[in-house]
Amino acid sequence: VSEEEKTEDYLFKIVLVGDSAVGKSNLLARFARDEFYPNSKSTIGVEFQTQKMDINGKEIKAQIWDTAGQERFRAVTSAYYRGAVGALLVYDISRRQTFDSIGRWLNELHITILVGNKTDLKDAREVPTAEGKALAEAQGLFFMETSALDSSNVAAAFQTVVKEIY
Ligand code: GTP
Ligand code: MG
Repeated sequence: VSEEEKTEDYLFKIVLVGDSAVGKSNLLARFARDEFYPNSKSTIGVEFQTQKMDINGKEIKAQIWDTAGQERFRAVTSAYYRGAVGALLVYDISRRQTFDSIGRWLNELHITILVGNKTDLKDAREVPTAEGKALAEAQGLFFMETSALDSSNVAAAFQTVVKEIY
């Protein structure tokens, strides 16, 4: 076993993918720093954050890679999928188009959980919960709806990924 592989045993690499502006960076900001940015800038390439997590009383470290959703960065971001042990695929429940592109993401990498973000935008919802759940079930994925704005289910979504692999 190489040194690199040993490190990976306790430092879990997780990636966040999904279309641009679905809220990936804000989910990570909420989870890691309990912050929210109403006017955040689109991610350029990739950014990562290491977060300590308590899973069943044990401390583990998750290295969470936040990738750019914009198409023009796809070649760059896909290079970072390697070595990931879990992935969150995020769509925006208020923009059907971001749900329609899920198939394309599923072809790119192994996904752990499907995340419908922005549940606080109740009046603007375009994707019913049942539809997200059904798609996740059909693909054998976990499913959760979140809001980076009001914090609901944010930690739970990340914890689901780590619990699955740990
Ligand atoms: P890329 O980096 O381009 O891939 O986008 P992203 O998926 O990282 O989206 P980002 O986190 O930058 O959020 C895009 C916009 O959606 C920002 O204006 C956020 O403030 C907003 N946003 C993110 N999460 C939520 C949420 O849960 N609710 C609401 N209402 N807005 C959100
Ligand atoms: Mg981003």
